[in-house]
Amino acid sequence: MGHSGGLRAGTRYAFSRDFKKRGSIALGTYLKEYRVGDIVDVRCNGAVQKGLPYKYYHGKTGVVYNVTKSAVGVIIYKRVGNRYLEKRLNVRVEHVVHSRSREEFINRVKENAIKKRQAKEQGVHLHLKRQAVQPRDAHVVESAENFPETITPIPYDTHI
Ligand SMILES: *[C@@H]1O[C@H](CO)[C@@H](O)[C@H](O)[C@H]1NC(C)=O
Repeated sequence: MGHSGGLRAGTRYAFSRDFKKRGSIALGTYLKEYRVGDIVDVRCNGAVQKGLPYKYYHGKTGVVYNVTKSAVGVIIYKRVGNRYLEKRLNVRVEHVVHSRSREEFINRVKENAIKKRQAKEQGVHLHLKRQAVQPRDAHVVESAENFPETITPIPYDTHI
């Protein structure tokens, strides 16, 4: 049988609207302000066929380089073989959302600045490096008064 390799082939789920987010598009989508240099995620909205980027770019993050009435230009780096190509997409605002990828970093910079200032005032040494979650501390488990429990699945029960 023939097999379609069309522009939207294989996007049945990627481009479908999310559960409980179907229907008319939230007005907030159109009230967001985009500026050149903003980091945005391309998140395609299947309900709008105009200005829809190619399926490869769904879920990719890029930087805004152009803003127009109802669309933004986004620069995205696409991996092609052994190199990255700069791709310039013009997509409608329905298909982008502000990215949260830099939020944590910016917050951390601000917090670190405050911590640094405080440390300078108090004259203490400061460690700002982040630490991954470490293994739990050693501790003793008492067996007295701490009886083992048998865990079994709860029998199936119809509850209404
Ligand atoms: C931004 O988009 C408009 C409309 O497509 C185009 O005329 C203009 O040249 C673009 N500007 C840049 C900097 O690419």
